Amino acid sequence: MKNFISVQDAGDINSLVRKALAYKADPFKDRSLGAGKRIGLLFLNPSLRTRLSTQVAAANLGMDPIVFNVDKEGWALEFEEGAIMSGNTVEHVKDAAPILGQYFDILCIRTFPSLKNRDDDYSEMYIKQFMQYAGVPVISLESATLHPLQSLTDVITITEHRLQTGTMAKRPKVVLTWAPHVKALPQCVANSFSQWINAWGEADFVITHPEDYHLAKAYTDGATITHNQAEALEGADYVYVKNWSTFRDYGKIYENDPAWMLTEESLRGTNNAKVMHCLPVRRNVELSDEVLDSQNSLVTRQAGNRVWAAQAVISELLSNH
Ligand code: CP
Repeated sequence: MKNFISVQDAGDINSLVRKALAYKADPFKDRSLGAGKRIGLLFLNPSLRTRLSTQVAAANLGMDPIVFNVDKEGWALEFEEGAIMSGNTVEHVKDAAPILGQYFDILCIRTFPSLKNRDDDYSEMYIKQFMQYAGVPVISLESATLHPLQSLTDVITITEHRLQTGTMAKRPKVVLTWAPHVKALPQCVANSFSQWINAWGEADFVITHPEDYHLAKAYTDGATITHNQAEALEGADYVYVKNWSTFRDYGKIYENDPAWMLTEESLRGTNNAKVMHCLPVRRNVELSDEVLDSQNSLVTRQAGNRVWAAQAVISELLSNH
């Protein structure tokens, strides 16, 4: 592994999942691996889980994590090649990234999309420029289009649950369902979850959403797609709930029908499905209290597993460099 930006960097997914679960069983077993090394966590957006779980993971490996909230504490960065910097941006990424590469052994970046220009967002200009100019391995803490540490966590959580319930021999039905929301959100988590479940290949994968909310085909190819949520949920073992804004007419909220909120009633036709969400969640908008607070919810365990996903990835990068 050279960087960790998408599923393509993961190599053998099950091997990475096993590595993460081994860290969960024994968090400090590789404490000397990162001794004397620093990891920089750059945030251009808010975060609770990604920020703290990655810090804990790095510390478990003996690394010194340093967080920098670029949006609040740093100079406004310019990413445009050849920009005449007479406006609000103060420092070009070409100048900042190589310096960060001298301070840190691994650089982690979180950026969100603008949701204004699809081509710009889907070109992943921000994270690609950090990769180009930093000269050290880069980990995505969520980019404009993908959230690979979240998706690795999601596969870890499904695998762990299957191991604990003795259901490894059964091919699970995994459903990604769109849910209503009050804000236009990125497609990152849904894109990334689709990309990872398809690449993992160990589940029957169904995506359900209202007609206007198609995701990019590059991520969903291999999944069954339906606009009928009840039909999608039939016999499901794992239901992943997530809102995303429109991809075609980019970054908009079209239909926002509250009937798409996941409730106990919507879970009736499932195989006693376990429910997942990346968090933060809008209670009683995306998911009802009764589901989130029920035995069927895996969301707290899922968020806890963010540590082990990050630890497995940082460990891989440390071992390869
Ligand atoms: N799931 C997730 O990325 O959470 P944060 O936005 O809190 O980091």
